[in-house]
Amino acid sequence: MIAETSAQTTPSILIIDDDEEIRYSLGRVLGSRQYRISEAGSGEEGIALAKKGAPDLVFLDIRMGGMSGIETLQHLRSAHPQLLVVLMTAFGTAQTAIEAMKFGAYDYVMKPFDADKVLAIAESALKTKADLQTAAGYKPKVKSEDYKEGIVGSSPAMQEVFKVIGQVTASDVTVLISGESGTGKELVARCIFQHSHRAGKAFMAVNCAAIPENLIESELFGHERGSFTGATGQRSGKFELCDGGTLFLDEIGDMSLATQTKILRVLQEGEIQRVGGSETLKVDVRVIAATNRDLEVMVKAKTFREDLYYRLAVVRLRLPSLRERTSDIPEIVDFMLQKLEKTKKTRVRKVAPEAMDLLVRHRWPGNVRELENAIYRSAVIAQGDTILVKDLPQELREAVLAAPPATIASSVPTVARPAEVAAPAAPVTVAGMASPAGPASVEAALDFIYQQLSADKAETILERLEREMIPRAMKEFGGNQVRASERLGITRATLRKRLDAVRGAAAE
Ligand SMILES: Nc1ncnc2c1ncn2[C@@H]1O[C@H](COP(=O)(O)OP(=O)(O)OP(=O)(O)O)[C@@H](O)[C@H]1O
Ligand SMILES: [Mg+2]
Repeated sequence: MIAETSAQTTPSILIIDDDEEIRYSLGRVLGSRQYRISEAGSGEEGIALAKKGAPDLVFLDIRMGGMSGIETLQHLRSAHPQLLVVLMTAFGTAQTAIEAMKFGAYDYVMKPFDADKVLAIAESALKTKADLQTAAGYKPKVKSEDYKEGIVGSSPAMQEVFKVIGQVTASDVTVLISGESGTGKELVARCIFQHSHRAGKAFMAVNCAAIPENLIESELFGHERGSFTGATGQRSGKFELCDGGTLFLDEIGDMSLATQTKILRVLQEGEIQRVGGSETLKVDVRVIAATNRDLEVMVKAKTFREDLYYRLAVVRLRLPSLRERTSDIPEIVDFMLQKLEKTKKTRVRKVAPEAMDLLVRHRWPGNVRELENAIYRSAVIAQGDTILVKDLPQELREAVLAAPPATIASSVPTVARPAEVAAPAAPVTVAGMASPAGPASVEAALDFIYQQLSADKAETILERLEREMIPRAMKEFGGNQVRASERLGITRATLRKRLDAVRGAAAE
């Protein structure tokens, strides 16, 4: 095949510098490759040329008479968000580098030039530019008002969670939320609170793991003056301050047995005593507790009070790990990009399909919080309006690439460990939560497949499924058409027709 070298496919580079010699020497270096070069002697001229010629890449001097390099850069980047700019600077200080990148430069080079370095930067910038142009990007189907709850997810597993949230908002029932770190336990607790009749009152969170053992009781119940060294005055605890509202007891599994006893008393009697006090105070507080530890195991080991466990777990809500709801990832990413855009931190709106594929395939041990961090980091360094694979954190790319190759099977939610899926014993009162993982995983897998296949315009979803399932059934029954058609739920005649069609297509 003969390579096309028409004006359309030859990358064009604009050099903006008020020093003619620099323009000349840089032009020669870049001209040694198949690039179309144009030159401007000032920022103003460069802006005009960029508007007319739409270059693929700009080399821009940071110090120029008239409009400065940084000003020119800002102009160019706001008028052409996809345009990549490499700054040229005479001094290589950390500050110049920081400034350059802060204003959205793709990279910078130092004068005098190292020709190889210049060519390497040009090449990598043009590759990025090409990736940006071909990246169709994930197009969200969800409008921003659908995100108003702040909890995103349409996977069956999350729909179950939403149902339970809806069921527990009307009453003051205690809810025990479990789930790996970063799965959204606090977010869910806040959501329950916001939908409850207590919404106008206080919501407070206490992280039992973060407060030293000797202070936790004072934090929760308050103390009287002089009750312990350092208790210089009387102080109200969270239960008192939260009267009428909702208290979120996070990491409840990290609480000592002595404190557990006191918590049980509040839950049963609605009464507290400050540390060192004798007065009994009535409080009306709804408790939502969370843990990423297995409380049932702790109960068996006698490190968690059984009676408190049952009292807390009137309703248990298990948040699925992100691995169990990979079909939610594109939507969560979109939500996070919208949030970032609103706070004007970035103007990234899309994720290239290959990058989204990596995001969906990653195992996310830190769950949604880890995803959030990854998106934030990628959006900050992305050029243009699309996150590309190269923008994703390196450790994420490495982790995914080290995993088995991309197949739908590796992307579907993994089945939770038996300990997690076992139907919880007595405390479950809400329908639908008893077996969250078994069939839900198949549902989630189908959900994922549906979403993946929706993107393909050349073939309908059912056509594609047929193309996959018919050969599987034929294989399973050793080519027996009668049994294969029974298994597929179609007549033998239909199966024959489909097989002919498939063979016909293969022969073409
Ligand atoms: N379904 C979701 N949709 C959108 N954002 C989410 C979702 N789940 C969690 N997040 C976000 O992820 C971050 C972590 O959530 P949160 O703090 O509620 O998790 P957690 O389970 O309490 O974590 P940890 O165990 O580390 O305390 C938050 O910024 C939260 O807003
Ligand atoms: Mg938390």
